[in-house]
Amino acid sequence: MAQENIESTLHEDRQFPPSESFVQQASLHAADLDKLYQQAEQDHEGFWAEQARQLIDWQQPFTQTLDSSNAPHYRWFPDGKLNVSYNCLDRQLEKNADKTAIIFEGEKGDVEHISYRELHHKVCVFANALKAQGVNKGDRVIIYMPMITEAVVAMQACARIGAIHSVVFGGFSASSMKDRIEDTGAKVVITADGGNRGGKVVPLKDTTDQALENGCDSVETVIVFKRCDENITMQDGRDVWWHDAEQGQSEDCEPEWMDAADPLFLLYTSGSTGKPKGIQHGCGGYLLNAITTMRWVFDIQDSDVFWCTADVGWITGHTYVAYGPLATGATQVIYEGVPTVPDAGRFWDICARHGVTIFYTAPTAIRALMKVGDDIPNSYDLSSLRLLGTVGEPINPEAWMWYYNVIGSGRCPIVDTWWQTETGAHMIAPVPGVTHAKPGSCTRPLPGIDAAIVNDDGEEVTTANQGGYLVIRKPWPSMIQTIWGDDKRYKETYWPYFGGKYYLAGDSARRDEDDFFWIMGRIDDVLNVSGHRLGTMEIESALVSHPNVAEAAVVGRPHDVKGEAVFAYVVLKGTRPDGGIDEDLTQELRNWVGTEIGPIAKPDDIRYSDNLPKTRSGKIMRRLLRAIAKGEEITQDTSTLENESILLQLQGKA
Ligand code: WT7
Repeated sequence: MAQENIESTLHEDRQFPPSESFVQQASLHAADLDKLYQQAEQDHEGFWAEQARQLIDWQQPFTQTLDSSNAPHYRWFPDGKLNVSYNCLDRQLEKNADKTAIIFEGEKGDVEHISYRELHHKVCVFANALKAQGVNKGDRVIIYMPMITEAVVAMQACARIGAIHSVVFGGFSASSMKDRIEDTGAKVVITADGGNRGGKVVPLKDTTDQALENGCDSVETVIVFKRCDENITMQDGRDVWWHDAEQGQSEDCEPEWMDAADPLFLLYTSGSTGKPKGIQHGCGGYLLNAITTMRWVFDIQDSDVFWCTADVGWITGHTYVAYGPLATGATQVIYEGVPTVPDAGRFWDICARHGVTIFYTAPTAIRALMKVGDDIPNSYDLSSLRLLGTVGEPINPEAWMWYYNVIGSGRCPIVDTWWQTETGAHMIAPVPGVTHAKPGSCTRPLPGIDAAIVNDDGEEVTTANQGGYLVIRKPWPSMIQTIWGDDKRYKETYWPYFGGKYYLAGDSARRDEDDFFWIMGRIDDVLNVSGHRLGTMEIESALVSHPNVAEAAVVGRPHDVKGEAVFAYVVLKGTRPDGGIDEDLTQELRNWVGTEIGPIAKPDDIRYSDNLPKTRSGKIMRRLLRAIAKGEEITQDTSTLENESILLQLQGKA
């Protein structure tokens, strides 16, 4: 295991207890939290069983809590039966039928309020439409949609009939989509003629057509929602409009009663090697932690207006847009576009107009909005806000303070939530009415989450502030079930050490004298660009697939808004450009990566050299490349380099 990323972080002593006004209205107080910790400590499985009985409506109650017979493929509540969509919609109808489930706002300003009754109706009709298109329990469905209500409808409809959805982020390319279609063997693709983003129309259907051009033989039907009046071509016998598919479909749709451990969805995420992996989540356990964290971390209450700004293409948009808020009967905002249209006040404008009370976003967005100054947020009435959250990467104390003072007026606690696609829900996060926050720390593991920091031998690191590997030592309900179609990779990636006993998160972390956790970075070759995970190898493969490129190595470098930026070292097949500069080729390679993976993966820097620095055994010296990308002094041993001139080339000095 490479410890090289473990670096000391600045010490942060400031503590922020929750404001009195927050504590007064919080649903969980110190004594309640202590009790939860105690119960979980005394009887881990019993604790989760109790939560599952209280918070989920079971069609058939479970009698067994955890099946570990095929560990690490743990099965929670194995003999229980439920339906996730029933728990999100049907059970709200009794008390909350007329309550607003979704306040939708399009980028162009169109606003729609959808009640639980209306959402239930939409989901049932579309679920029946899917069935009529031949979608059965266990079939895979790709969803490639803009951030509109129908994206959630499509996900919920799949959940209702037991189809396994796999949402592909609308910013991903045709080739990324194709990989996902082929890996899942999806029968149906659900998309739209376009979506509004950044003042432009994202051509989702055109990209779908490209993805399906060759291969993807499993796809029988493409369902197209009309959002933008785009001129698109519909392929006879394959493509059907969403509204046509719904024609004549009944609004009654009996949910498919699923085993708790049946898969609910697949979501692809990058690893350090190979193609993105399909993270599989199950129904019962996943739903449970979506609910517990909505309650514990977001303190969700009946009168709240919740807004998580994440796209449904990421896990955050699954747990805290498509499932968690609905399963807790909340009102939530869904916004289609980017934070800067028509100007950098859009998020605050939405908060003010819709009376948002809980706001959850990524540090990269906070940093970008902080850059434009305080006047913009100060010109909006943000007094409805009571709680703020962040996710995706460590938040730098400066951005934390700005979020706290300028957006929250010192009144709103900030919940910094550490979790991953694989963990399904928050793992380490504050309980806002109790925890005294420290800027930059995700604070403490939630009840029932046995997070620890261990050394190479799997022994717990007990010295305060000493770094190590972040592991989870006991199974938890919303944990990854497997990597779709690759049980071996699942075991090798997440359970490689410590006798396969601990889940390896892939992050390094330290624990301070108050037992607060501080995430220090990835231990693998995974970058975190604007809170999105990118495998360096994926970007390298994309570069090498360009006809002019012989070899490539990709590392991250610090970036003040994105957190990390993609830095690529490229060896060309022909000669190196004069002085290492060729603007046209650089632009071409950036666009190439954009088309191969998606715009988020485009390298910020490309540096050409005659060769890559390698060790005697032929391994690329990534640590050296990282140091150069950061502009640091070279302290590594470079004696294996064939000649010093490469070093100058890599540094951009020759
Ligand atoms: C990786 C997971 C979980 C939804 C968004 C990203 C980093 C995530 C934090 C945080 C420090 C964080 C970790 C983690 N990360 N949240 N609050 N503080 N780092 O999901 O794409 O699966 O990425 O994001 O490195 O392993 P993801």
